[in-house]
Amino acid sequence: MDHFLYRDGALFAEDVPISEIAAAVGTPFYVYSSATLLRHFKLFDDALDGTDHLVCYAMKAASNQAILKTLAQAGAGMDVVSGGEYMRAKAAGVPGDKIVFSGVGKTADEIRTALTGGIRQFNVESEPEMDVINAVALELGVIAPITVRVNPDVDAKTHAKIATGKSENKFGIPISRASEVYALAASLPGLKVIGIDVHIGSQLTELEPFELAYNKVAELTERLRSEGHDIRRLDLGGGLGIPYTRSNDAPPLPVEYGAMIKKTLGHLGCEIEIEPGRLIAGNAGLMVSKVIYVKSGEDREFLILDGAMNDLIRPAMYEAHHDIVAVQEPAPGVEQKPYDIVGPVCESGDTFAKERSMPPLSAGDLIAFRSAGAYGAVMSSEYNTRPLIPEVLVHGDQFAVIRERPSFDEMINRDTIPSWL
Ligand code: LLP
Repeated sequence: MDHFLYRDGALFAEDVPISEIAAAVGTPFYVYSSATLLRHFKLFDDALDGTDHLVCYAMKAASNQAILKTLAQAGAGMDVVSGGEYMRAKAAGVPGDKIVFSGVGKTADEIRTALTGGIRQFNVESEPEMDVINAVALELGVIAPITVRVNPDVDAKTHAKIATGKSENKFGIPISRASEVYALAASLPGLKVIGIDVHIGSQLTELEPFELAYNKVAELTERLRSEGHDIRRLDLGGGLGIPYTRSNDAPPLPVEYGAMIKKTLGHLGCEIEIEPGRLIAGNAGLMVSKVIYVKSGEDREFLILDGAMNDLIRPAMYEAHHDIVAVQEPAPGVEQKPYDIVGPVCESGDTFAKERSMPPLSAGDLIAFRSAGAYGAVMSSEYNTRPLIPEVLVHGDQFAVIRERPSFDEMINRDTIPSWL
């Protein structure tokens, strides 16, 4: 459920008409609903009720500080994957002891930043990285809390580009080598082993792969404990999928996911951490765009939008489907027609949808891409010297621009010309 609904024929974000935001900020733009963000966070938080837990929002999904602050005020921790994300979380007021640092390629500088500013734990992905964290911790005279990310070799049954839990993926250490790697960690004086981390992929639409992975983590917890390690925290990653279409085959709900976690891992008495990103932000955001032209091709009609692949790359990159709706609700019974919906970028890949049934649309009409809150704005670029589009946050009947559209001057003046030119 989200808070983007039609009222009297006009699409609203909570209590604000989308057309009002469009008139104020221009198109295209992203708009997020605070109530939806908070609702989704609470679904996870409630699903783990009765268990010592922390929901660490995977801020890579949507990292505007206003979004982080909204979630942090409700009690969320953050999962970060770069020094930049770490700094952004801190800037949004998230305390270091609620920030988890994931990712396969943390640099010594990033590790130093986190150890200096405070960190809940590093999720370590390799032995060389473990050595670097140890060295930086010793240099700073602190002890770095760590988990080791294990790769359980399970098939997440998701898009190949976002599956991470098979042995051929670059992530984690093979679970079969865990004893060896934990022994190494225990021997390094700058580290304190506190738990195990696992993350098998994103947009999972079944519980089974999670359950397979978590059963392996349960077994591993007992084994590592018997080998003398103090395993008291399990970071179970993110990955629960969202419905991208309004069909009936919706992915499992957070409450079902939480029950499965309790069933597979509850007996171990560990603190549970999860890192959901997409489920919190995905359906809490729209990308709103305007039709610039309706162009008749040989055998089809194109809706040419002012939004493009640089603003929302998911269709081009993952063949991802986003529901696209007219901001002005079509009159009942109006006949839909197929359109190819494209952006103005000079690539055929700049296609959002082919033969998509839409009500008849004309130049100037507004449309909205649903489920665009996660991996939308954060993956955008200035390709074709197109400005990054603004982000807007709605809260009841209020809205605020939380990232401005840069001017062309601001963009162009970031270049510097070498002296020989
Ligand atoms: N934790 C770790 C270690 C991750 O790598 C990820 C996502 C998450 C948590 C959050 O997963 P989520 O709950 O959002 O599924 N750009 C792609 C998705 C990439 C996901 C990368 N890792 C897309 O647009 O579908």
